[in-house]
Amino acid sequence: RKDLLSLYDLSAEEITFLLDTAEEFKKVSERNVKKVPALRGKTVVNLFVEPSTRTRVSFELAEQRLSADIVNMQASSSSLLKGETLLDTVRNIESLQVDLIVMRHSAPGAQAFIAKHLKCGVVNAGDGAHSHPTQALLDIFTMREKKGALKDLKVTIVGDILHSRVARSNMWGLLKLGAKVTLAGPSTLVPREFEAAGVRVCHNLKDAVQDADVVNLLRIQHERQSAGFFPSTGEYAKFFGLNRQNLRWMKPDVLVMHPGPINRDVELTSEVADGPNSVILEQVTNGLAVRMAVLFLVAGCVKK
Ligand code: CP
Repeated sequence: RKDLLSLYDLSAEEITFLLDTAEEFKKVSERNVKKVPALRGKTVVNLFVEPSTRTRVSFELAEQRLSADIVNMQASSSSLLKGETLLDTVRNIESLQVDLIVMRHSAPGAQAFIAKHLKCGVVNAGDGAHSHPTQALLDIFTMREKKGALKDLKVTIVGDILHSRVARSNMWGLLKLGAKVTLAGPSTLVPREFEAAGVRVCHNLKDAVQDADVVNLLRIQHERQSAGFFPSTGEYAKFFGLNRQNLRWMKPDVLVMHPGPINRDVELTSEVADGPNSVILEQVTNGLAVRMAVLFLVAGCVKK
């Protein structure tokens, strides 16, 4: 595939191959090898039309470690602001003999749309509330690293599922790999319609987490909540926030995950975020190896 757009498009075998490749890149990093020549001579443009810390820095570092030439484009200082269309923008970028475009955009499907019109590869770094495949891959990589087999692993995702690309991508990837997924949160943020995908929907935190092997907490995305009856941060924290007390309901070895950015004292308290069950920063570390694997495999499929 010349593009990575969504885990929905991938088979279990393709996801496993990506995870195995990331594992090899992680081993190389652990041997303190800072750079490999895998993408020497390739040019990657990082086009972030929405804010990002982890994904942007991690892609940039992954590209550097693979010896690619990199251009970081700020949408806020590009000709997008003068009214140039996204398609014209990326066609112009491609004309500069670029091999890969890594893009984040607020419009669901933006990367799939440009990928259809370009010969260069496109990697989705997050499109609206739709998909964030590399985040889900690094989450699943971390689960596999810590818990072993993903088949029948009980994973509970808690939070603003309705507006979350991370939830959708995790759900698609985990279900393909045979995990048992529960989605939990207030009914306005976790509608029953999700059950059609083959997951359990739960509106009570204790029921959702007490037998979970992994609890992945998601941010309340006020910026995407345009209309509807959504809880305040205080209400959300009271009924769905993780703290030292409700951590006692869970298995002693439960993994607590969060894709970031975290809202301390909303999704979880600092005691939990920085406590022994948390692997939040390990997720970030694993993002580097996962993105190296994605860039390496996608670049290998670009025919220009
Ligand atoms: N998890 C994630 O996508 O974080 P950023 O928005 O900081 O990239």
